[in-house]
Amino acid sequence: MPFRTIIEPFRIHSTQAIQHTTPEQREAALVRAGYNLFGLHGDEVLIDLLTDSGTGTMSSRQWAAMMDADESYAGSRSFYRFQDVISGITGLKEVIPTHQGRAAERILFSVLVKPGQVVPNNTHFDTTRANIEYCGAEARDIVIPEGRVPAAKHPFKGNTDVAALEATIKEVGRERVPLVMVTVTNNSGGGQPVSIANVRAVRAVCDRYGIPLYLDACRFAENAYFIKLREPGYADKTPRAIARELFALADGCTMSAKKDGLANIGGFLAMNDPDVARQCRNLLILTEGFPTYGGLAGYDLEAVATGLEEALDEDYLKYRLRSTAYLAEKAEQAGVPVVQPPGGHAVYLDARALLPRVPPAHYPAQALAVELYRVGGVRGVEIGSVMFGRRQADGRETPAPLELVRLAVPRRTYTQSHIDYVAEVIAEVARRKDRVTGYRIVEQAPWLRHFTARFEPI
Ligand code: F0G
Repeated sequence: MPFRTIIEPFRIHSTQAIQHTTPEQREAALVRAGYNLFGLHGDEVLIDLLTDSGTGTMSSRQWAAMMDADESYAGSRSFYRFQDVISGITGLKEVIPTHQGRAAERILFSVLVKPGQVVPNNTHFDTTRANIEYCGAEARDIVIPEGRVPAAKHPFKGNTDVAALEATIKEVGRERVPLVMVTVTNNSGGGQPVSIANVRAVRAVCDRYGIPLYLDACRFAENAYFIKLREPGYADKTPRAIARELFALADGCTMSAKKDGLANIGGFLAMNDPDVARQCRNLLILTEGFPTYGGLAGYDLEAVATGLEEALDEDYLKYRLRSTAYLAEKAEQAGVPVVQPPGGHAVYLDARALLPRVPPAHYPAQALAVELYRVGGVRGVEIGSVMFGRRQADGRETPAPLELVRLAVPRRTYTQSHIDYVAEVIAEVARRKDRVTGYRIVEQAPWLRHFTARFEPI
């Protein structure tokens, strides 16, 4: 290859204006929102790295497919295309559309999980954990030890600790483990990939105890490309073939198509067991819709079907992982440690390392996220003790193992100069780090408090 620059494998076909705000406007917005960045209006944010979920840019092919969608209530042609594409990629037989990932989770756990049971996962995403806990069960994270250390380098930091999995099953008893999950890539642990070899080892344990294995497949395409780059024996395989091999190890999956479905909304549940599928469809009809649309418009089904195919394009994946790594390099150059190696969809700033004077009880990652917005209108999200701290009966909190700020990169949306700007903002915050103070929570909900909590500076 004569040129080393990895380019965006697309040209921009339609633009959307973004606007600067003044420091005074941002301060007023922070006060109004109770220092919770979820409370900001989109127009108050310049570069929005809150999430890579549903925030990407669709392709002209997706828009074209949407125009030709079939909006039949039952038996829509768009559903059959959706089903064919998903079965083609995953090999799973039963495909159930849902409006997004957490709807798939809620339905699956309502069918499989009983109170008092334990669901192991490399690391549960917050909605996954909350939906399991809502069923009265325990969500247990058993990622490998390297996955908990931000600076530790490991090619597959999202891998499950297979010995811990087996120990968990022995400890709680096989009948109390209704399913095992593996999240690809491991979002809450830094967007880290999982190797095929590791999933195979997890599968072997599941087989030994007769426990079904489900993937949380939100970022399966990014995970497949990491496997191609890092796992011996996969360099010459296509992302599609690798994804197929990964799914072949599972009994089913939950999926948010707002990630590697390259769509603004959508998701699905897929599995091989027809009896589980039947029970899931019954619940789907109750709250989401008829099984051939599951809460989505026909055009959403088309957007997802086309998006899933595009997400497996090799040029796209090469650009995708490279642009995220570029942001990580820039953040480190600006003096902010990041989770290493960088994940596929996001860069995770290590707030504990940057702000050692802010104790976990004062939410250092929340403080860093607020400061990035205050300084430059950049919105990230706290992934630390606000999101994962555990409240004890006496009101005290056990802090989360990591205090991170996630800067998630929407797919096909920002250019390199946007990212260069973000790096300047990070550098400015690093310069002010001795002046950054923590926060206390003044209002919170019993579940998923990070979405609506209100804070006060300490
Ligand atoms: N699982 C993982 C690993 C996720 O990252 C998400 C969403 C979900 C499940 C739930 O999917 O939002 O469609 O209901 N993650 C988004 C994020 C919200 O910002 O990381 P959903």
